Amino acid sequence: MNDKLLQEMDWRVRVFDSLSFPTLIMRPDKSILTANQVFIEQRGLQVDQIIGKKCHEIFYGEKMCPNEVCPLKKVIKGKKGQSILRRTHSLTGKQIWEDRVFSPILDEHGNVDYIMESVRDVTRLKNLEITLKEAEAFLEKIIYSSPVAIVAADAYANILLMNPAAEDLFGYTQRQAITRISVENLYPAGTAKGIMKQLRSGKQGGKGKLPSTNTVILNANGQEIPVELNASIIYEDDSEVATVGIYKDLRPLLAMEEKLQEANTQLVQSEKLASMGKLAAGVAHEINNPLTGILLYANMVLDGMDPDDTYRQKLQNVVEDANRCSEIVKNLLAYSRQTNSLRKPLKVNDLVDEGLALIRDQKLFMNIRLKKEYAPSDLFIKVDKNQMAQVVINMVINAMDAMEKHGTLTLRTYLDQRKKAVCLEVIDTGCGIPEGLLSKIFDPFFTTKELGQGTGLGLSTVYGIIKENQGKISVKETNANGTTFLLQFPQHQTESGEALIG
Ligand SMILES: Nc1ncnc2c1ncn2[C@@H]1O[C@H](COP(=O)(O)OP(=O)(O)OP(=O)(O)O)[C@@H](O)[C@H]1O
Ligand SMILES: [Mg+2]
Repeated sequence: MNDKLLQEMDWRVRVFDSLSFPTLIMRPDKSILTANQVFIEQRGLQVDQIIGKKCHEIFYGEKMCPNEVCPLKKVIKGKKGQSILRRTHSLTGKQIWEDRVFSPILDEHGNVDYIMESVRDVTRLKNLEITLKEAEAFLEKIIYSSPVAIVAADAYANILLMNPAAEDLFGYTQRQAITRISVENLYPAGTAKGIMKQLRSGKQGGKGKLPSTNTVILNANGQEIPVELNASIIYEDDSEVATVGIYKDLRPLLAMEEKLQEANTQLVQSEKLASMGKLAAGVAHEINNPLTGILLYANMVLDGMDPDDTYRQKLQNVVEDANRCSEIVKNLLAYSRQTNSLRKPLKVNDLVDEGLALIRDQKLFMNIRLKKEYAPSDLFIKVDKNQMAQVVINMVINAMDAMEKHGTLTLRTYLDQRKKAVCLEVIDTGCGIPEGLLSKIFDPFFTTKELGQGTGLGLSTVYGIIKENQGKISVKETNANGTTFLLQFPQHQTESGEALIG
C-alpha cells in the first residue's frame, strides 16, 4: 500500500470513529466488520466482543435473527438505504426507541460490499408522538361525549366533524353531514355568510372569534331552531384552515322563559282580580236590592199607565236603564265568581255555535264575513255552558266593535297536541290594541269606548270565567291589521285516560 492510500484509509477510519451516532459496518452475511467508538461505549462491550459476531447476536443476543422484517435483504437487493424502528432497553433498563438506518456500501461493480448501520435514539421523539396521540384521543373523547353540539369544517365549508350532540340537534348523522352537505346548509339562507363576516371582522371577541351569539339554525327537516353559538376560525400561519361552531339549543330555555312570563302575567292579573273581585261583589250586592225595587215599582207604574200617557216613554227609559244596570250587576257577580257554575264535558265547536246564536243583535253581522275554521274532530272541554256562551258573546262583540261593523271575523278551534290544550282563536281584522293598553284590557271597568257604550267589564268577566274553568286567555297577536285572542282549555279526558272524541 502506498502512503497516499494509507493516509486515505486512516482518514476514513477517523471519520467513521467520530460519527456521533453509534455505527457499525457488516458484511452481507450480517457478520460485523467493525463498530465505531460510540457504538462500543453505548453497548458496554469490548471491540473483540463485537467484531466477527452476527448483527442479531449484538442486537438481540440470539443465534438466529428473530426480526421478521429485517431490512438487510432489501438493502442488498435494492442497493438502497432502509430503516426500522425498534423498541428495546438501554443498559440501565430504561425502555428506549431506536431507529436503525442501513446504508449499502457498493464495490466498484456496483454490488453491495458492506452495509453500514447507524442507530439513532428516537425515544424522545417517539414519546412525544405517543403523548400527542394520547392527547388527540383524549380530545376526541371530550368532543364526542360533550353534551354541547360541536361542528367543525374546513376552509371550504366542508364539514369535518359533527359530534353526537350536534347530530341530535341538526338531525344529520356525521357521515351524512360530511358527505352530503356543507356548513351553509346548517343555517337559513345567508346566515352562514353573515357569521363568517362577523368572525373575520373580529369586532366581538378578537380576530376569528365570535363569542355567544344568538342565532337560528336549520335542521334536516327544514325546521328553524334558536341556538346560542360560539364560533372560531382556526388559523395556521395566518391563513384560515378550519372553523368550529359550538351550539346550545335555546328551545328549553325559551320555553321556560315563556312559561315564567305567562305565570307572572297570570299572577299579576289574579291579584288585580282578587282585590277588584271583593269590591265588585260588595258593590253588586248593595246595588242589587235597590235595583230590584226600582224595577218592580217602575214596572208596576208602567202597567197601570194609560197607553197615551206622556210619561210612558220616559218611564220605559227608566226600566231599560235599570235593566242595563241589572245586567252590569250580573256581570259583576259573574266576574267575582258569586254565581254557581255547572261544569260538564262539552264539544268546543258546539259551544262556539251556541254563543254565536245568542247574540241578540244579529244585525251586527251584516257587513262582517264570518269564517268558521273548526277542528274536524270533536274536542271536549269541561266548562259551564252558560258561562261559555257569555265568553263567546263578549269576545265576538269586542271583535265586531274593533272592526266597526266591517271586516272578517274568524273563529278557529284546534288541539295543541304538545300542551294537550283545546284552543279557540277569535281573530278580527279590526283596529288592534295599542301596546300600552295590553296590560289593562282585562282590568274591570277598563274601556276605550265612549261613555254609555261599554262598561269595561267584558274582558274581565271573560277572564274570571275562563280561569274558573281552568282555562287561559291571552292576546296572541295584535297590530293595525287586527287582533287574535287565544283561549285555551285543558282537553277533557275520560276516566280511562282517553280524550273524548266524537
Ligand atoms: N278585539 C279587540 N280589538 C281591539 N280592542 C279590543 C278588542 N277587545 C277588547 N279590546 C279593548 O279592550 C277594552 C276592554 O274590553 P272589554 O270587553 O273589557 O270592555 P268593553 O268592550 O270596552 O266594554 P263592555 O264589554 O263592558 O261592553 C275595550 O274597550 C277595547 O279597547
Ligand atoms: Mg266588551
